[in-house]
Amino acid sequence: MTSSYPQVHENDASVLPPQRREASHAARRHGQGVSVEFQAISHAFAQGDRIAAVLDDVSLHIAASEFVSVVGPSGCGKTTLLSMACGLTKPKVGRVMVDGRPLDGRTLTEAAYMLARDALLPWRNACENVEFGLEVRGVPAKVRRTIALDWLERVGLGNYAGARVGQLSQGMRQRVAIARTLALTPRLLLMDEPFAALDAQTRVLIQEEFLRLWESTRSTVIFITHDLVEAIKLSDRVVLLGGSPTRITSDLRVELPRPRSADVEHDDPKFADYYNGLWAALREDVNRATTKR
Ligand SMILES: Nc1ncnc2c1ncn2[C@@H]1O[C@H](COP(=O)(O)OP(=O)(O)O)[C@@H](O)[C@H]1O
Ligand SMILES: [Mg+2]
Repeated sequence: MTSSYPQVHENDASVLPPQRREASHAARRHGQGVSVEFQAISHAFAQGDRIAAVLDDVSLHIAASEFVSVVGPSGCGKTTLLSMACGLTKPKVGRVMVDGRPLDGRTLTEAAYMLARDALLPWRNACENVEFGLEVRGVPAKVRRTIALDWLERVGLGNYAGARVGQLSQGMRQRVAIARTLALTPRLLLMDEPFAALDAQTRVLIQEEFLRLWESTRSTVIFITHDLVEAIKLSDRVVLLGGSPTRITSDLRVELPRPRSADVEHDDPKFADYYNGLWAALREDVNRATTKR
């Protein structure tokens, strides 16, 4: 971590220059996440001349500022569920409530998406990429530049504001993507296998950085991953999807204290219990899915 003021931004914004201070306060304001409730969701897609059921009676209540990971076999409907949380996909049956109000066709502007591919714009430098979402929202140039520089500092890229995307490593690019996402001060963060494309070591570092940043912001997170270790390490809850059509097969509360240490996976004996329990449940489903073909 090379940020020049990592210890300052959370507790003492008063030592920052006024513009940075404003950005720091703005960053902290997204403290309140939204609650999200999937109510008896069933969904199907037309695939050629048949209708394929994807989700079957999925009900899930996610509290405000909760971090929930969703794990399940490929094709089980994780991305579909995620896109329902912000209104991009409308469930065929059931409904999605956000902060107790039905989405009913509206898209949720307080939500931000993060994907495995960083999806940065190669013709923009790092800072301009972080600014992009703010620009779309009509944030004035000076303000968005200040916010973007602040977030680049937070992800340890304060010295790379002017760097082209092509000059950045995969890990750095994903850090820029994190900065771009968090700069929007989302109340709901929808993350679809966001670290899946990273090599194992970079992935661990970025998980830790992301966790530290999230712990200072507390937006609600729905985090899709195939990696059980990642799911347990980051989340308050891990939800397993499985079966055909897909249902919730397990919903585990992760009671590891926060802030979590980088070594929580080795330090806390509960970690192995969580892992073994989830793997036993997941294994059956993966087995069934891979022997079906
Ligand atoms: N727009 C679509 N039209 C038809 N089928 C789709 C569409 N989106 C997803 N599907 C199908 O629905 C199933 C679930 O997809 P998805 O939610 O992407 O799964 P996951 O993210 O768990 O891998 C898959 O079989 C996929 O092919
Ligand atoms: Mg997917």
